Amino acid sequence: MPQGKKIIVGITGSIAAYKTVLLVRELVKQGAEVKVIMTPAARDFVSPLTLATLSRNPVLSGLFDEQGWSNHVMLGRWADLFLVAPLSCNTMAKMARGGCDNLLLAVYLSATCPVVLAPAMDEDMWRHPSTRANLELLESFGNKIIPVGTGDLASGLTGEGRMAEPEQIIGYLRHYIFKQGPLQGKKALVTAGPTYEPIDPVRFIGNHSSGKMGIAVAKELQQRGASVTLVLGPSAADLSLPGIDIIRVQTAEQMFTACRERFPASDIGVMAAAVADYTPVVTADRKIKKTGAALSIDLKRTTDILKSLGETKREGQVLLGFALETDQEKMNALEKLEKKNADLIVLNSLNDPGAGFGKDTNKITIFARDGREFPFETKSKNEVAADIVDTLIRLHYA
Ligand code: CTP
Repeated sequence: MPQGKKIIVGITGSIAAYKTVLLVRELVKQGAEVKVIMTPAARDFVSPLTLATLSRNPVLSGLFDEQGWSNHVMLGRWADLFLVAPLSCNTMAKMARGGCDNLLLAVYLSATCPVVLAPAMDEDMWRHPSTRANLELLESFGNKIIPVGTGDLASGLTGEGRMAEPEQIIGYLRHYIFKQGPLQGKKALVTAGPTYEPIDPVRFIGNHSSGKMGIAVAKELQQRGASVTLVLGPSAADLSLPGIDIIRVQTAEQMFTACRERFPASDIGVMAAAVADYTPVVTADRKIKKTGAALSIDLKRTTDILKSLGETKREGQVLLGFALETDQEKMNALEKLEKKNADLIVLNSLNDPGAGFGKDTNKITIFARDGREFPFETKSKNEVAADIVDTLIRLHYA
C-alpha cells in the first residue's frame, strides 16, 4: 500500500510506542521509505536501535548533534506524510500552541505534507477539556486525527484512549491519505453479533454469537478501502474500530430497520449476524412471575434481513450471507444462496472442530452464484475475514 511513499514517523513519550515498532516494520515491509523521529521522552519507552534497524535509517532526535544541525525544513519537505504515533498529551499541547523545543515539533511546524496524528493517553486525560480543545485546534489546522480505541489502558483501567492498532493506522492511511485499496469509494454494510428478543424487562431470547466474525470482516473491508457501517447486536467483543460507523442494536427488528435504511446507498452487504428467527409475540412490561408448572411463550417470525435485502438488491450491489449448518451443509448453503438472492454464501459447519460460536478460529467454504466453491483451511477469524474479502474482490471487483 504505502509502496514508494516517504513517511516520517514521529514517536512521543507514551507506552503505546511499542506498537509503533510493529507499525514501522509493517510500513517498511509494504515498501514505504521510513524515517523515524523520536522526542527525548520517547527514548524511555522504545529503543532507537530497534527503530533504526527496522526503518533502515538512522533515528533522528535532536535539533543538533555533533555532526551539526538537523535540517528540519528539508525533512518536512522530503516526506509524503508525517505520522505522529503515539501522540502524547504533552506533544499534542505543544503542537496546538506552536511550541518548538525538539526536532519532532520543528519538523511538524515546517511540514508541507499531510500530517496524521494517532493520540494515545488514559481516558481521563483524553476527556479533559484541554485535550478536547487542543484536538479541535489541531484538526482546524488541517491535521488528520486517527480516532482512539477503547480497551485496556496502561493505568490498568479500561476505557477510551488507546492508540489505534498498527493495522488500523495503515488502513487509515490507505483509505484517507493515499486513497488506495481495491474497495476505495465503496460503501459496505455489515451486520454482526446476536440479537436479543425481549420476553419481559429482565429476560430475552438470544444466542451465543460473539460478533467476532462480522467485526473481523468489517475491519478487513475497511482496510481494503471501503467505508464501513457496522450494525452490531449486543456483543461483548472488544470494540476498537476507529473509522467504522457503528450502529448498536438489540433486536432483530432494530437490526432490520438499520439495514433497510442503509442498504440502498451501500455497494456491499455482509450479513454476518446471528439474527433470532423468532421473537415473542408480546413483551411483558413487568417481570413475569412464576405461576404454573409450565410456561409457554408465543413466538412469531422475525424479518429475514438477508432475504429482504436480497429482494431489493439492485444491479451492482453485492450481497454476502453466512450459513451455519450441522446437516447436509452444502445443500443447505446453496439453498440459502438461492432463496435469499445472495451473491456469496459463507458456510461454516458446526461439525468442524475449529468452527463455531465464541471460537477464535473458523473453517469456511464460500459458494458463489455461478456454482464455484472455495474451501479454506481452519484459520483465525481475522485470516478468514481476509479470505472472504479477497474472494469478494476477486469475483466482483477485480
Ligand atoms: N439472517 C438474517 N436475518 C434473519 C435470519 C438470518 O439476515 N432473521 C441471515 C444471517 O445473517 C446469515 C443468513 O441469514 O447471513 C443465514 O442465517 P441462518 O440462521 O443460518 O439461516 P436461516 O435462513 O435462518 O435458516 P435456518 O435457521 O432454517 O437454518
